[in-house]
Amino acid sequence: MEPFAIWGNFIYTEGPERLCLRPNSFAVCNENGLCEGIFERLPDKFNGIRLNDCRDFITIPGYCDMHLHAGQYRNLGRGMDMQLIQWLEELTYPEESMFRDLDFAKKVYGALVAELAGSFTTRAAIFSTAHTEATVLLMEELERSGLKTFVGRVNMDSNAPDSIRERDADYSLAETRDWLAQVKEKHFRRTQPILTPRFVPSCSPALLQGLGELAGETGLPLQSHLDENRDEIEWVHQLHPDSPSYAAVYDENGLLGPNTLMAHCIYMTDEECALMRERGAYVVHCPTSNTNVRSGIAPMRKYLDMGLHTCLGSDISGGHTLDMAEVIRQTIGVSRALWQLDESHPAYLTAQEAFYMATEGGGSFFGKVGSFQPGYEFDAVVVDDSVSCQGGEPMEARFEKLIYLGDSCMVKEKYVAGE
Ligand code: GUN
Ligand code: FE
Repeated sequence: MEPFAIWGNFIYTEGPERLCLRPNSFAVCNENGLCEGIFERLPDKFNGIRLNDCRDFITIPGYCDMHLHAGQYRNLGRGMDMQLIQWLEELTYPEESMFRDLDFAKKVYGALVAELAGSFTTRAAIFSTAHTEATVLLMEELERSGLKTFVGRVNMDSNAPDSIRERDADYSLAETRDWLAQVKEKHFRRTQPILTPRFVPSCSPALLQGLGELAGETGLPLQSHLDENRDEIEWVHQLHPDSPSYAAVYDENGLLGPNTLMAHCIYMTDEECALMRERGAYVVHCPTSNTNVRSGIAPMRKYLDMGLHTCLGSDISGGHTLDMAEVIRQTIGVSRALWQLDESHPAYLTAQEAFYMATEGGGSFFGKVGSFQPGYEFDAVVVDDSVSCQGGEPMEARFEKLIYLGDSCMVKEKYVAGE
C-alpha cells in the first residue's frame, strides 16, 4: 500500500486517562497500513508522500461497535416498551427467523452494511442469526464494505420457538463447523468468525460444552450476553442451580477468556467481576439498549476503575441506533444518572473515558487499534464539524461538541487499517 499522510486536527486517547488533542498536525500511514505517529511537522523521511488536506476538519480513530445484532436491523425503534424476555419472544425471534430466506437477508444486510459504511464505525463485533447461509452472505457484504469485523453465527438450541431454535446441540455444532469451513474457503481479509452462543438460556449444557471444546480447539474468539436483566439472571439460576453464578456457567465450559466479549454485565456480583477480570474478558456496555428495554444501568465507572476491559456497543435493535455518537452520549448520561440516584457510586464517567471506550477500549479486541499512537493500525474518520463549530474553536471545544453533537452525517472520509 502507498504510504500517505493526513494533514489535520487529531483527537485520540493514550489509555483512559490521557486525551490527546493535536491541532494542525500530520498523521502518517505507512506501507503496512500502520500509524507512524502524529507530527507537528512532517519529518524529512516522509517528504513527497501523498498528503490529504483535512485542515478544516477533525480526525478521530473511528468508533468500535462491539455488540450489535444484524438480524434485528429492520426492528430499529420498535418494541421499546417491552422488557428483555417478552421482547425476544414477541418481536425478535420472529424477525430473526425470517433470515432463512436468502433474498430477504440480502436486502436487509445490504441496507445495514450501507449504513454502517457511512457511519463513525470502523470496527464491529456482530451477531447474525442461527442461519449459516445468511451469515456467510452478511460476511461477504461486510468484507466489501472495508470495515473490519467479527461476525458470529448464533447458537441456540433451547428455550426458543421452533421457527428459530436449532434442533439440538449436535446439529448446532455441526452447522457451526460447516459455517467455519465455508468461511475459511472465502479467505476474507477483513471479516473474521467469532463463536456466538446467544446466552445461557438459549444453550443446552451439551451445546455450551461443545462450544467450549470448539473454542479450545480453534482458539476462536467468542461473544455472548451476561447479566442483562433480573428475570434473565433468575432464569439462569433455575437452569443451572449448581453453578455459583451466571458468569461461572460460561467459565465452567471454557467460554470466558481474553478473547471473550460479554454484552451488558449490568448486575455482576463481586465474584463475577473478579472472574471476568481474572480471565481478561471484555465488558461491552450497551446503554441505549439498557435504557430502551429497561434492563438497568451498568456501573461502568466501577468496572473501569477495577481494570476490567471496557468497550461500547449499539446492541441494535435493543438499542435504537447504529450511531455510536449516540451510544457515547448515553454512556455518559446513564453514568451520571447512576451517580445521582445511588450514593454507593462515588464517581461518574467523563466524556474522555466514554470516548476511550468507543475507540481504544473496543479497538484492543482487534489488536493495536483505536489510537494514533505509533504502530497502531491506521483507522481514521475525518469529521466535518462545521455544523457544530463556527470556526476558530480550540480543540477542547471541538472535542466536547463532537461528543454532544456528533452525528453520522458529519462523517466525511474513513480509513480502516490504511484503506
Ligand atoms: N439476550 C439474548 N438475546 C438477546 C438479544 O438479541 N438482545 C439482547 N439485548 N439481549 C439478548
Ligand atoms: Fe444483544
